Amino acid sequence: MYYTPTRIINLLFKCLLSLSLLSTYSNAGKMKIVEEPNTFGLNNPFLAQGSRLQPRVTPGPVSGPAHIQRLAGKCFSYIESTYKYEFCPFHNITQHEQSFRWNAYSGILGIWQEWEIVNNTFLAMWMREGDACGNKNRQTKVILTCGGSNKLAQVSEPTTCVYSVTFETPLVCHPHSLLVYPTLNDKLQKEWDEAEQAYYDDLITKQGYNNLLREIFEDAGFLKTQKVEKPNTTTTLKKHDSLQKCNEDARKQSEEIHRLQALLTQHNIPYDSKPGESGHYYSCTRSVMVCSVLTCLNSSLCEQISQRVH
Ligand SMILES: *[C@@H]1O[C@H](CO)[C@@H](O)[C@H](O)[C@H]1NC(C)=O
Ligand SMILES: *[C@@H]1O[C@H](CO)[C@@H](O)[C@H](O)[C@H]1NC(C)=O
Ligand SMILES: *[C@@H]1O[C@H](CO)[C@@H](O)[C@H](O)[C@H]1NC(C)=O
Ligand SMILES: *[C@@H]1O[C@H](CO)[C@@H](O)[C@H](O)[C@H]1NC(C)=O
Repeated sequence: MYYTPTRIINLLFKCLLSLSLLSTYSNAGKMKIVEEPNTFGLNNPFLAQGSRLQPRVTPGPVSGPAHIQRLAGKCFSYIESTYKYEFCPFHNITQHEQSFRWNAYSGILGIWQEWEIVNNTFLAMWMREGDACGNKNRQTKVILTCGGSNKLAQVSEPTTCVYSVTFETPLVCHPHSLLVYPTLNDKLQKEWDEAEQAYYDDLITKQGYNNLLREIFEDAGFLKTQKVEKPNTTTTLKKHDSLQKCNEDARKQSEEIHRLQALLTQHNIPYDSKPGESGHYYSCTRSVMVCSVLTCLNSSLCEQISQRVH
């Protein structure tokens, strides 16, 4: 077989394709920020504790493992020195000074926002947008650990106005109790599988993989959406009849590239393929289509791809 010197064409395109469908969806999860004076230090002893606290935001949706969701609506308190802490999973965490002073402190340390996910595991619950603290707002990371009963076990403030709280519960003692993957629906599991495969095949970088995971977690409601400013995609949208087609194209192209690489290898023809640098990288996933530097090994294939995209 005869090969012309491999013409390498680098197509560099970045297209961010956000489906209008998804934008409606993400807006639904947006928090309404109410500008209210906070009640820091303004303790009115004639009001019941809590009722004078004015949350800045409404809590995020109850999400995560079903057995953990059962904690919603409950509250757990913990007294340490002169403070009483009250943690209401999926709602809020507050701090109350145990004192009869007229201005005893009572404040919100955070309102439930999102999970912290590390290594396919729900690690902690983030309660943010608490009472003002300088030009920031108090926030609290609640770490779930295995324990004999449901209780707050430890409170610290590793950095100013960022609190760290340990919540012990028998609900997380099973080694699989906090795994993320099993809590996803079929569609999102499939997307994760695809991202995993693409990463394994060097089609996407570690960062690209992490971005895809983040999107999956956002769709599942585990993380707050961080949707960046949407580019004007009216024109881009027309070029891809549907996302499915885009994914299908990406899959075919990737197969083709693999086939060609195998051919080149078989015939001992050197080719340029350093993953991450000039490596081929083409992936479309749901709302965001990540098209990056695509190194074509076959000029005819390149033309096809280029026609399809432009
Ligand atoms: C905190 O959550 C509890 C339980 O859901 C609720 O009763 C209380 O009003 C909340 N407090 C604030 C300040 O949001
Ligand atoms: C990630 O989790 C797996 C199994 O759940 C474990 O074997 C691995 O050590 C963890 N890696 C890190 C960096 O925590
Ligand atoms: C997006 O593009 C369309 C058509 O080209 C144009 O009418 C619209 O004003 C643009 N929107 C923004 C935000 O640039
Ligand atoms: C290049 O790709 C085209 C279209 O997929 C194919 O017909 C052709 O055989 C390929 N060339 C080589 C050398 O593999």
